[in-house]
Amino acid sequence: EVPPLSTCINIFDIERVGKSRLNSKALVYYTSTSEDSNSYNLNRSAADLVRFRPRLLRNVSQITTKTSILGHSSTLPFFISPAALAKLGHPSGEICLAEAAGRHGIVYIVSTNSSCTYEEIAGSTVPGQTLFFQLYVNKDHEKTKSLIQRVKKLGFQALVLTIDAPAPGKREADERQKSVLASDLPEATSAATTGADAKGLGDALLGWTDSSLTWQDLKWIKAAASPMKVVLKGIQTYEDAVLAATHGADGIFLSNHGGRQLDHAPSSLHTLYELRKHAPGIFEKVEVLVDGGYRRGTDVLKALCLGATAVGLGRPFMYALSAYGTEGVSKAIELLQDEVITGMKLLGARNVRELVPEMVNASLLAKE
Ligand code: FNR
Repeated sequence: EVPPLSTCINIFDIERVGKSRLNSKALVYYTSTSEDSNSYNLNRSAADLVRFRPRLLRNVSQITTKTSILGHSSTLPFFISPAALAKLGHPSGEICLAEAAGRHGIVYIVSTNSSCTYEEIAGSTVPGQTLFFQLYVNKDHEKTKSLIQRVKKLGFQALVLTIDAPAPGKREADERQKSVLASDLPEATSAATTGADAKGLGDALLGWTDSSLTWQDLKWIKAAASPMKVVLKGIQTYEDAVLAATHGADGIFLSNHGGRQLDHAPSSLHTLYELRKHAPGIFEKVEVLVDGGYRRGTDVLKALCLGATAVGLGRPFMYALSAYGTEGVSKAIELLQDEVITGMKLLGARNVRELVPEMVNASLLAKE
């Protein structure tokens, strides 16, 4: 039996229910991490390395969580990160995510590997709602160009190009499970390997993408995307952050793909720290998004203090939709919103601009 939603008082409660509702294929796909889960575990533990330096007596009776992400207003400094195959968790799939994001005025980044069509997802938004589109590039660039035109027409507002997956990470639980049916896979993935030859869902979902991409390809991708802004997702070093800026990216998205790609890659908090140290000017040039392991309002606030504009969550919303559909995702957003507000008050920040590096001691991130 599913416990009433009202008994869930944090994201972990919802996660527990979500996991208990999933069949084994969905559970394995959603929970998968690469190899020894080093990066996955690091994502969770990195926040523990950052301590707050709260400022007091600042009249926090009126606070606002409003912000803007790539020029689009958001009621909250967090968003829904792109994740494939929401229908594995709930028959309405990505529509649950779009509806809940619309209800709360937050950004939802729709995956190329969505199980609902992009038309269905765009069709379930409310006026003024912001969707971004996460792009994987097909080996056939003409297909990708027409996909970009298609999502532009549908009203997607920015393109989030994922660049940390030139090969699928080795997700062993997924690989052991095998059994990939063509019917599991979304439209964009139709050329993928299925049946006995597939190495799990992760492999099938990425097998059709172009691993020959270089920084030069950003030129045609930016041209095709215009006037949509382009964000590069998966940046993990300051060197690549600088290259992204010099190649005209509007934003960079620090991420290790939820610990599903290169194991032993850094957490986004570590990369944020590295950027502050070696390329502090980057924060004026590009907007910085982050994700990976953020589960508490305080986790979100730590990244904001270190210079992120907003923080994405992946799995928590997938578990929430699996447990309770749209209402579950909506509740997850509310719980996190409450924690962000409480955290801001206790930290002495009345708005997101007041979340500054001086409010954290992140020196332990340097030792890791
Ligand atoms: C993902 N992620 C992902 N990223 C992306 O760019 N395109 C995609 O299609 C997917 N698909 C996907 C499926 C599932 C089930 C998961 C868990 C993740 C990565 C995702 O955008 C994000 O980086 C991580 O999920 C963030 O980590 P947490 O919040 O899940 O810990």
